[in-house]
Amino acid sequence: MLVVITETIEQGHRTAASLLGQSIKKNPTLRIGLAAGNTPIGVYQSLVDLHRSTHLDFSGVEFFSLDEFLGLPSTSSKSYDAFFHQHLFRHINADPAHIHLLTGEPPGDMVSYCHSYERLIHDRGGIDVQLLGIGINGHLAFNEPMSSFRSRTRVSLLSAETRETLSPTFNETAVPEWAVTIGLGTIAEARALLMLAFGKEKAKAIAKAVEGPLTAAIPASSIQLHPNAVVILDPEAAGDLKFKKYYQQQSSHLAMLLPRGLA
Ligand code: GLP
Repeated sequence: MLVVITETIEQGHRTAASLLGQSIKKNPTLRIGLAAGNTPIGVYQSLVDLHRSTHLDFSGVEFFSLDEFLGLPSTSSKSYDAFFHQHLFRHINADPAHIHLLTGEPPGDMVSYCHSYERLIHDRGGIDVQLLGIGINGHLAFNEPMSSFRSRTRVSLLSAETRETLSPTFNETAVPEWAVTIGLGTIAEARALLMLAFGKEKAKAIAKAVEGPLTAAIPASSIQLHPNAVVILDPEAAGDLKFKKYYQQQSSHLAMLLPRGLA
């Protein structure tokens, strides 16, 4: 695992966007798994900047999503579908036929829908780069604690702490109880993982995920098993890590370690 501690959050955003940009230049048909949440918003802004300033071309790139709230139509401003359009798709030259987001209103039965999403990822050739945030309880996508490391796309019952964290986003309305999420096993099959965490409220979860034991109690600890995982942190999110001296060395040699992006 390559752990990069940037001096500021903005630098973290730019580092992630530049790694993604290099990967797209290397492979114009890159398949990216997108994460929602506050953490990657600045990365999407930096990608939009790269599109505007360097004509980074998204026309061949395919997009998948990690998760979605069940019961929310894509037209709801609270849906992750709306989030991705607001922060990314509206501002770049993505081909609508290449946007494959999980829906909160699946057609037919849920089990078949989840299978069909897995099949779609597989049939399109798999995810090359999966962007990830982390929940304060160590969740990955909506794989809550005690999810199997081999879990696949399925329905997830949101934990009380996750719903509480999400409540400001939902203002007066109730946070959904249920979500659909790709599994930890699905995430593990992506060719590269790019996890981001900023701020001190993420420090404990990051220390457990990056340096703690592999355990289903911290779903994000599953990334330790991935052969090509990059974790970008600001100093606050890195605050509880014990092996910083190794990570700082890695950060300063990033261009050497990943000369052509992630995957
Ligand atoms: C949310 C999402 C995750 C996200 C994580 C962190 O609940 N399901 O995909 O990565 O929790 O969110 P944030 O970046 O807002 O802290």
